[in-house]
Amino acid sequence: MKRKGIFLLTLLSSCMSDNRQSMIHTASQVADDIAYLWWLMLIVYTAVFLVVITLLAFGIKTKTRSEVPGGSRLWLLIGGIALPFVTVLVMLILSLQVTKAIPTDKADLVVEVVGRNWWWEVRYPEYGIVSANEIYLPQGANVRFDLSAREVIHSFWLPALQGKMDMIPDHSTQLFLKTREIGKFRGICAEFCGLQHARMAFHVVVLEEQDFAEWLAARQSDASVQKAMQLAGHEVYFKKGCDTCHRIRGSEAQGDVGPDLTHIGSRLSLGAGTLPYSQENLAAFVHDPQTFKPGNAMPATVIDDDAMQDLVEFLDTLK
Ligand code: CUA
Repeated sequence: MKRKGIFLLTLLSSCMSDNRQSMIHTASQVADDIAYLWWLMLIVYTAVFLVVITLLAFGIKTKTRSEVPGGSRLWLLIGGIALPFVTVLVMLILSLQVTKAIPTDKADLVVEVVGRNWWWEVRYPEYGIVSANEIYLPQGANVRFDLSAREVIHSFWLPALQGKMDMIPDHSTQLFLKTREIGKFRGICAEFCGLQHARMAFHVVVLEEQDFAEWLAARQSDASVQKAMQLAGHEVYFKKGCDTCHRIRGSEAQGDVGPDLTHIGSRLSLGAGTLPYSQENLAAFVHDPQTFKPGNAMPATVIDDDAMQDLVEFLDTLK
């Protein structure tokens, strides 16, 4: 009993933690509205279910039509037509109201997200920043996500902040959001997209306006790239062919198969939420990515320990 209590407590604290992926522990007005609709639907449809089951039991027990109080025709008209019509109509109106309340007229910030197999390319077109699997946003901003996909259809879902939106190759979809709470929120892919669909997560970090401005300035700067290029590991990067797949802004590495690594040293996770970022995990992932994320496009790297150490130091310097 005690163990069960601890388990529930752990589960609850993980729901409430600074890594929220719950659509009922919300952090924006849109998410509040969606959660309200969800609770309302749960209550109304549970009530409908109970009424139907009760009537079904009554119907099974009843032998003849004459036993039905008020006549079977009345029940058909009320229960079979009027009640479902009113229930669905009210829910439709409420859903449309929630949809209409989403601010879509102005965007303080535009973020482009491209669904890839199986990670998220994140671009800030106004600032020339390209990243992967994490989206930083300022508090209180109207944000527009321009969504698309490269290989197959994905679905961009931010449970604590917004609903889902499909990402379709050669097609652009949009999702709007006004940020409210500061924190780190987890998003996931909500459309089955292949072998690593379950390991296609991302993080949204909402910062105070001043912190976001500092983040922007740091990501726009090439200082860390210049520093990293002085290190021995930069030769390993090109010698091992990492540059054919991974771009580093301000260098000759311009590959477009895997994530842009210009700021890899500041990432929260590796492999789209598969592993927490650390130098050890970076080395392990580079060594044998298929163990952590089977089916992804990256082959194993044959490399000795010293060269790996240099490579990891080089990558970790790219902040
Ligand atoms: Cu991408 Cu599922």
